[in-house]
Amino acid sequence: HQPVEVDLSKLAPGQQMTTVWQGKPVFILRRTPEELARLQNAALNETLRDAQSEALQQPPYARNWHRSVVPEYGVYVGICTHLGCVPAYMPPTPAPDQTGFYACPCHGSHFDLAGRVLKGAPAPYNLPVPPYVMPTPTTLRLG
Ligand code: FES
Repeated sequence: HQPVEVDLSKLAPGQQMTTVWQGKPVFILRRTPEELARLQNAALNETLRDAQSEALQQPPYARNWHRSVVPEYGVYVGICTHLGCVPAYMPPTPAPDQTGFYACPCHGSHFDLAGRVLKGAPAPYNLPVPPYVMPTPTTLRLG
């Protein structure tokens, strides 16, 4: 498999794009400062099944609160860990405290903007982080 290089220079804060790597959808999300603050909110982390992603193998650069190489960009394999549907990105709405999230269309699992599954969802694990590096601040190389 060839590595896949992705140009992030047109991805605005709050936007997400989907690319394909090894036949799988990969989500790349540029998180806003508000969203990054929210990922660190202890009360909200209580609503997650596995806030520290202890139940799945993660690359070393994802073993942090933002689960990524740099906090701004979240990168996940976009396949629901329940039965493999592709979750949809639900962007933030203007109402106060309405953050974006990922919603699986098949059985309703929700994931936060670090790809972490909410308690009570059918998906057993958080969305995996694929192997990648960032050779420049706006270039991402998968694989
Ligand atoms: Fe996503 Fe079942 S496949 S909730």
